[in-house]
Order: sequence, then structure tokens, then C-alpha cells
Amino acid sequence: MKVKVAMSQKVRELYEQYPYPLRDPQQEKDRLLMPPMDSLSRINHYGFAGRKVIDNNFRALVAGGGTGDAMIWLAEQLRDAGGTVTYLEPSLASTKVARARAEARGLENVTYVNATISDFAASKPDGFDYINCAGVLHHLEDPEEGLRDLTMVLKPDGVMGVMVYGEHGRLAVTEWRKMVAPLLPEKDLGAQLSMTRALLADLPEDNMLLKMGGGPGFIKGLLENDPEIVDLLLHPVECAYDVHGVYDFAASAGLKVAAFTGFFGFGGTGKAHYAIENLVRDQRTLRELATKPLRDQQAFCERFSGAMPLHAFYLTKAKAEDADDAQGAGGVLPDADLAPYFFVRPNETFFDDLIALSGQPVLIEDGSGNAIDLTGGPDLAKLLSVFDGTRTVEQLIAVLRDEILDRQPIDMNQIAANTLGAVWALFNKFDWMLAALPNGWQQADQQRTLSVRKL
Ligand SMILES: C[S@@+](CC[C@H](N)C(=O)[O-])C[C@H]1O[C@@H](n2cnc3c(N)ncnc32)[C@H](O)[C@@H]1O
Repeated sequence: MKVKVAMSQKVRELYEQYPYPLRDPQQEKDRLLMPPMDSLSRINHYGFAGRKVIDNNFRALVAGGGTGDAMIWLAEQLRDAGGTVTYLEPSLASTKVARARAEARGLENVTYVNATISDFAASKPDGFDYINCAGVLHHLEDPEEGLRDLTMVLKPDGVMGVMVYGEHGRLAVTEWRKMVAPLLPEKDLGAQLSMTRALLADLPEDNMLLKMGGGPGFIKGLLENDPEIVDLLLHPVECAYDVHGVYDFAASAGLKVAAFTGFFGFGGTGKAHYAIENLVRDQRTLRELATKPLRDQQAFCERFSGAMPLHAFYLTKAKAEDADDAQGAGGVLPDADLAPYFFVRPNETFFDDLIALSGQPVLIEDGSGNAIDLTGGPDLAKLLSVFDGTRTVEQLIAVLRDEILDRQPIDMNQIAANTLGAVWALFNKFDWMLAALPNGWQQADQQRTLSVRKL
């Protein structure tokens, strides 16, 4: 019989010695970190089809909470709604940091549990609406068992936000680990760390780590952050997944991938990296790829872009009626009774700028490197201005049909739906727009705003 190892002793010691990530509770006074995957607006849109009522019944679990990033952000968002967060973490040193951060913010809606995922699941707690598990499962001796344990404590309609290492984008790390493997066994973690620091400080310029991290700034940052070095390069237990591996991992626990999403250091809008139309310019290949199952398209993106060191994604419980490719494609409109809204708010001059630049190619951008180009004008400005979070898709189609397209002599309803679908696809591409019930959870992104500029 297989012996269940909840957490290896080495991993336990590592996180007691190096709580991860490195965080200073004092900084809570100056900044709020908002991990993109844990924005309730995104969770609602991608995991609950925009229909979740988030109130004082909402229960979130942060499994392997580390020093508290996701716990803090979820607890902040739920502060007024009345929901609660359970922070689960076996490392007491990490819990100390996380608790100090929550106290610095006066957060009172958090329960702290000092246990492993398997011990917690065995205690049969009430189910959770949302479970965050980021950077944890790939460090378990048996990740599939960990995912099954989490599934046991997820409500039937609940959502999981999971982040695991990406096999392809992480090749530089895999190669590094192979390189140092013969040198590690006779050293304790401290000695391993000082050897690694010395090697990093003198890295040849063609080393793959430099490319993966985006240049020398990455190595400089690493050298100031021992927990990051240990977590990235010296972890005793880890595995990684490619896109197909993510789907198979989800299926092993009876879950389905509802959507890929973003993570710190990887853009808030990671999902755009998985869409062939954003990556492949060659039209013939693009057309051929479009005939393949969604997961093949996404797997193509992973290896074509080469820039996915991790995968962050939402999981929901798979139902018998789910089609293979159930993941919402960007171009399909949300349900008729949902209200699309600007998750990334337009800046003050957005609509005026769009009108002033009528008929000219413009760039709409969100200040974090994401942009789309289009040729707009008063009609587009008028249409976008009615995406106010109160009007449903059905009402928006009527506005488009009766007030904007009313001079065309053909089937206006179909044209309006198609036009709206195209606008939606453009604005949902980087999560600039999401959809929810008209009076539902529609909290805007606090980091980005949309602006228009002439191309
Ligand atoms: C890389 S850190 C990630 C921390 C946090 N989730 C984040 O994204 O910032 C991994 C965390 O998982 C915790 N962990 C490891 N094995 C665990 C297990 N079996 N059950 C629960 N937590 C575990 C570690 O103590 C550590 O704090």
C-alpha cells in the first residue's frame, strides 16, 4: 500500500527557514498587492459564469498561503461584502508574516489553520466557494492527491484558482538544476544557497536563466531575495506541467479547466498568451490551427511563445454535459441577461478622444503593455459608453440595432449581435471587459485604466 506523505521533512524545513515570498508587513501601509488570479471579478466571470452572489456567505480558502499575498487580497475584497478567508499553511514562520500583514491592515475576516492540505481535508470542513492554491501543488510528493483533497473541500459549484510551474517556459531552471545536481547532496541548504549566489553573481551572458528572467535585472533581484533563489533553484520537491499536462491534471480530480489566467510577473492577463490569434501571424497555419481542439491550440501557444514559466488557471467541477472544449472562446457573447462592464475603466478623456480621432487608426492601451488597434469614431464611442454594467447583452444588442445601425436595410438583430460580439472579443481579450449580473459583483481593476492615442 502506498504511504501517504503529506509534506516531506525537507520541504517543511525549507519554508520554516525561508518563508515565501519575501514580504515585510510594514509595507502594508504603502501598498496592496493584488494577485490577478484572485480578483473576485475575474473569478466571478471565468469560474461562476458571472452569476455568483458574493456576500457574507462567501467562503474562500487559501491553501499553502505562504506569507499571505492571496489571503490579504481576498480578505480586502471581502471586507465589505462580509465573506471570510481561511488561510491554510503548515509553516509557522510563514504564518507569522501573513498574520502580521493582516493585522497591519486590520483585517478580521481571516481564520488561520496550521496544517497540510491533506490533514485539513481529512478534518472535513464546510465547503468553499473559491480555493486559491498557487505555487503549492507542484511541490507535493503527490500533486494529484493534493488536488483531489482540495476538490473534496470545494462546493459543487465552487471555483479553484491554481498556479503550477510551466514545463516549457521553465526549461532554464530545469537545466540549471541538472547542472548543479552533482554538487548539492553533500551540502546543507545554507551551503547550497551560498554556492548558488556565487554562480548567479557571475553568470555567463548566454545562460538561459538570463533570457527566461528577461535580463540582468532579474538576476539582480534574485540576489537580493534568498527565499526566491531557494524556491526557484534549490527546491527538493518539484514538478512542472505543459498545457496538456494541466488538462490531464485537472481531469485526474474530476475538474475541468474553465480558463487560463494571469499571475504576478506574467501580466495580469495571461489568458491572452494562450490564444493563437494573438500569436500566430501566418494565416494558413492560423486557419489550420483553428480547426484543432482548444487545448492543442493552447499547447501550440505555449511552445511557440516560449514564455510561460507557469500556468495559472481556474478549475470547476466537470459535469457530464460538459463538451470537450467548454472553455468560453473570446468572441462568443456572454449570456443575454449578463451585463458586460469595464473591468479596466476608461480614463476621463477616453470617449472624447475616440470621437476626436474619428476615422483614424488609434491604439487603445491599458498602461501595462496591452494594446489593440482599431479605427473608431462616434458610433464606437457611443456603443462603448453604454457598457455601463447595468445594461444586459440583450439590451446592448437593442441599443446597437435601434440607435446605431438603424439605417442599414438588412437583418439588424443578427448584425447587431455580430458587431457586439466583435467588440466584446476585442475588449475581453485583455480582460478590459468582463460580464456579471447587472447588480452583481463588478469591482474594477485598480491598477490599469484605458486610454486612446493616435497611431
Ligand atoms: C512557493 S510557496 C507559495 C506561497 C503562496 N501560495 C504564494 O503563491 O505566494 C509554497 C507554500 O506551500 C506550502 N506547502 C507546502 N506543502 C504543503 C502542503 N502539503 N499543504 C499545505 N501547504 C503546503 C509551503 O509551506 C509554502 O508556504
